[in-house]
Amino acid sequence: MRWVFLGIALLTSIVVSILGTRGTVNSRRPLMLFPDMNAQPRYDPQGSSNFFADGRVMRTPPSGTVPFGGADYECDAGSPRQNPDFLQADDAYYRGKQGSGWVSKSPVKLDIELLRRGRERYDIHCAICHGATGTGAGVMTKFGMAGVASITDDLHKLMSDGEYFNVITNGKGRMMPYAPQISVRDRWAIVAYIRALMRSQSGRPSDIPEALRGELKR
Ligand code: HEC
Repeated sequence: MRWVFLGIALLTSIVVSILGTRGTVNSRRPLMLFPDMNAQPRYDPQGSSNFFADGRVMRTPPSGTVPFGGADYECDAGSPRQNPDFLQADDAYYRGKQGSGWVSKSPVKLDIELLRRGRERYDIHCAICHGATGTGAGVMTKFGMAGVASITDDLHKLMSDGEYFNVITNGKGRMMPYAPQISVRDRWAIVAYIRALMRSQSGRPSDIPEALRGELKR
């Protein structure tokens, strides 16, 4: 009988010593039989150091320093390019903002190339939800996605270009931000194309050039 008690006590202490301290924080270094080069002297960001007089690892850049370069996520594919406009100080272009409001008109020059690019990007990124004509009846709605906004109805014609740019950049409500996928210029191209979609929906036969009107009847 004594051995049974001893056995239970031994088992309990083993279980407690192995499992009982799980989740507790221990500042001591774990026992490493083969340390390889896991623990190396190095400075972590925001760390402290006795080497510098102010005790901080991160150094303050000299006053007046202007950042240049850095990763640019504007490119379509491949490794990031250097972006000379690292500060992105142009509020209108990078954020669609003017003071505390939205820019009413896109800062990008409107031409047929921009519209073509906008149509291509819109069809890739937006049409699945908002539909090819922007009415909010994209293919996703057939698979249970509810509440996709129409973006070309009369109400949305009142939205400024900057506000559209901002919705693409930061998302809105249940719509995700598209800044990581779509470059700044392409976002403006999409905005321009949405305007074209809006215009097309209030189109009349008289908008069509005379020479092409015959095709309408076919
Ligand atoms: C995965 C589906 C999905 C995709 C893709 C998508 N949207 Fe949306 N979008 C939504 C939903 C859902 C809403 C409504 C959000 C809410 O009000 O909660 C919305 C709202 C909007 C609004 C705001 C309308 C309002 O009433 O303020 C705009 C503008 C818009 N989308 C534009 C775009 C553009 C441009 C793209 C392509 C870059 C895009 N969306 C891609 C789902 C999507």
